[in-house]
Amino acid sequence: MNSKPFKYNEQWLLCNPSYNEVIETDWFEQSYWLNQGRLLGSNSGRGSAWVIKTEWGKWVLRHYFRGGLYAKVSKDLYLWTGLNQCRAFREFQLLDKIQSWGLPAPKPIAARVIKKGLYYSNDLIMEQIPHKSTWAQSLLESKQNIRQWEQIGHTIAQFHQHGIDHSDLNAHNILLSDDQINLIDFDNSTIKAPHIKWQKKNINRLKRSIEKVSQKTCKDDWSKLWQALVNTWQEELS
Ligand SMILES: Nc1ncnc2c1ncn2[C@@H]1O[C@H](COP(=O)(O)OP(=O)(O)O)[C@@H](O)[C@H]1O
Ligand SMILES: [Mg+2]
Repeated sequence: MNSKPFKYNEQWLLCNPSYNEVIETDWFEQSYWLNQGRLLGSNSGRGSAWVIKTEWGKWVLRHYFRGGLYAKVSKDLYLWTGLNQCRAFREFQLLDKIQSWGLPAPKPIAARVIKKGLYYSNDLIMEQIPHKSTWAQSLLESKQNIRQWEQIGHTIAQFHQHGIDHSDLNAHNILLSDDQINLIDFDNSTIKAPHIKWQKKNINRLKRSIEKVSQKTCKDDWSKLWQALVNTWQEELS
């Protein structure tokens, strides 16, 4: 995709070129879709991700909210360090690269940045991935499919082979459908030279997330399934 940021209505936009002629800054406002009866609802606990039904298909509109300590200072303002450093633009570009590699993640549609003095706020629009559930939801079901755990290990290995260091690989950011695993939520993720050290960190984070969500341990309760995931991941990396 050959996209370049441009200024429009005093805001910075980055967009899939197919939408260059039609994009509006309104697209990034929930109220715009709500007023048209096109706002379908939120899946996110933080209320940051909303599904919208557009004439081009279902999209997800995501506003960037700060986590951790900074959230107390400001809910959604980030320190400006240059246009290309903005979260939404970086995630857009990463998702675009992921698409070009044919890996399973959302297609980016558009991103917006509003500069506010020394700070900025930002939003991202991407395609909605049709899915049955998040992996977090499926972990609460008693019946587990070992093939699915292996498939998840396989998908993570593919991303790792391309050097994609997911900054928040957890069970909520893995979407399941019958035959596909998709990874989402690449905010603050980066591309690095493949190295087992950061790759292992991703896997350990995922392990903690599984245990937190399910209140079961990977060492005992999930041991067979977890080993299947890790073995598949390891085999494909080497
Ligand atoms: N592209 C997408 N397709 C389908 N569902 C999505 C998509 N992006 C986000 N979601 C849903 O919204 C939830 C929250 O989105 P996410 O990007 O993980 O933001 P956050 O974790 O910051 O709230 C996800 O767990 C998922 O259920
Ligand atoms: Mg998430």
